[in-house]
Amino acid sequence: MLQELPTRSLRESGAVVLETKRLLLRQPTLADVKAITRIAGDERVAINLRRVPHPYSVEDATQFVARVANAGGMATFLIERKNEAIGLASLTWDKDERPELGYCLGFHHWGQGYATEAARALIDFAFEEFSIDAIHSGARVLNPASRHVLEKCGFQWTGVELHRFLALGSSTPVDRFRLERGVWSSLKGWSDAVRR
Ligand SMILES: CC(C)(COP(=O)(O)OP(=O)(O)OC[C@H]1O[C@@H](n2cnc3c(N)ncnc32)[C@H](O)[C@@H]1OP(=O)(O)O)[C@@H](O)C(=O)NCCC(=O)NCCS
Repeated sequence: MLQELPTRSLRESGAVVLETKRLLLRQPTLADVKAITRIAGDERVAINLRRVPHPYSVEDATQFVARVANAGGMATFLIERKNEAIGLASLTWDKDERPELGYCLGFHHWGQGYATEAARALIDFAFEEFSIDAIHSGARVLNPASRHVLEKCGFQWTGVELHRFLALGSSTPVDRFRLERGVWSSLKGWSDAVRR
């Protein structure tokens, strides 16, 4: 049974900083607007994100940062690598909806394991911080890289839904995934056997 997530806690959690081996995840500020515009303004990124229009303007990014700071049901992190903004990762929980993981990386940073590293940090944070039973996510059927990220994080396929993507101006099939708390804690606790 899904527990209700206190939205104020989720908003406050945006101030948390998460550190991984190579990355730092922190709350985006207005100083990041230029970098966010560059990342989300790339069509190769936008066509895989439901709510990002294309073209994507500085004004869009400014509104996004303001929304992130004020929205109750959202914890959004800017992903930094060596002080450079390289992407975004978020956990969104609108009232009556399921906690949803999302992420994107600037095109030049694809293929180096950063999305998986950032997603795992956010997943750990979400399960450790909130009494949630599961985290949901989705990837366009035509987005094998994102599907792979989710599978590497332990998500399991639950079906296909049709979702509208702003940059496409149409709806497209999306593979839906779910990560159960039990699966997550099992993966975290799985230690190597000793061979004799
Ligand atoms: C999806 C995205 C976040 C992946 O970022 P990334 O940092 O390259 O991801 P990772 O390197 O952690 O993992 C990607 C995996 O997919 C694999 N992959 C990449 N392209 C692939 C393809 N065409 N077919 C199959 N697997 C593919 C990679 O080999 C890697 O797996 P590996 O570690 O086993 O080699 C990035 O491509 C992106 O930002 N895309 C646009 C926005 C987006 O799609 N966001 C997700 C919305 S659901």
